[in-house]
Amino acid sequence: MSARRSGCFVTGTDTGVGKTVVSRVLIRWLRARGVDVGAMKPIETGVGAAGPLDAIALAEAAGRPDPLDDVCPLRFALPAAPTVAAAAEGRDIDLGSVERSFARLAQRHEFVVVEGAGGLLVPAGATASMADLALRLKLPVLIVARATLGTINHTLLTLEAAGARNLDVIGVVISHPEGALSAPDRANLGALRDALGERVIGEIPPLAAGAEPDFWVFLDLGPFQGETLAVHVSDEGIGIAPEHLPRIFDRFYVIEAGEKGVGLGLYICQGLVEAMGGQIWVVSEVGQGTTFSFTLPVEGDAAGPAAT
Ligand SMILES: Nc1ncnc2c1ncn2[C@@H]1O[C@H](COP(=O)(O)OP(=O)(O)OP(=O)(O)O)[C@@H](O)[C@H]1O
Ligand SMILES: [Mg+2]
Repeated sequence: MSARRSGCFVTGTDTGVGKTVVSRVLIRWLRARGVDVGAMKPIETGVGAAGPLDAIALAEAAGRPDPLDDVCPLRFALPAAPTVAAAAEGRDIDLGSVERSFARLAQRHEFVVVEGAGGLLVPAGATASMADLALRLKLPVLIVARATLGTINHTLLTLEAAGARNLDVIGVVISHPEGALSAPDRANLGALRDALGERVIGEIPPLAAGAEPDFWVFLDLGPFQGETLAVHVSDEGIGIAPEHLPRIFDRFYVIEAGEKGVGLGLYICQGLVEAMGGQIWVVSEVGQGTTFSFTLPVEGDAAGPAAT
């Protein structure tokens, strides 16, 4: 098992891909496992009267343990890239202040989740990029990739840029910011999963507006936990309607009246998997199919590649 890091830098293949959603899930996931977590959005643009909304969302997931000035030391009004937004106010981006805030948070917490702005090569000053900021904070990066067309190129480019800068990559989390996928997008996503293999460490399924996942979909947070076996079983059947999905693991829940099942099978599966320290979840779209997934912790050297 890898030693626990002091934090991670959540970057994306683009802006609007789901970094904040993934960061919040990660913060909640860690807190549920007893880790004392701090959150940071060091540079936020598009900040209006309501304050830095990403930073506030992260701080809320962390239980608001820190002053907002440390969570978000650099805020700019223009909804543009950080250097552009800073120039519009005649200001510079002072990465020293980011480092000082991060140091305070790192001192207070076991782990700090830092959300970058945009993607890795977004400028973070005259000569620095977001990748440089991750290096200055000595943090490994978690890459959030959206699921739809274009993602293979963006994700591989991001991985290549991270490698060229000697950034430590924890893995890629696939997000669904554009909701349910079309059939071609589903095929495309399969190709992304194949191209990335074990580098995919999690996936946040399409969520209803404003919803937070009520289950954890991280497959293998290697640096955070031991080896995990992940099993996914897919069909291309009729799918499960969204109103049923949150309840299918409930005891005695059957989808249609008159159906023969007693609604205990999935309930028992969930109990067994969780009793062994694993997680079980389902991703489904009506008319497209369903994927059941579960993870189980593997002890010793027996862990093989994630099964798909
Ligand atoms: N799995 C998902 N299902 C449905 N909507 C999602 C999902 N992930 C993200 N979204 C939505 O997509 C939008 C962008 O997500 P988010 O704000 O997390 O992106 P971001 O990468 O943090 O953006 P920014 O670059 O502005 O910080 C939000 O409205 C969010 O609610
Ligand atoms: Mg964000």
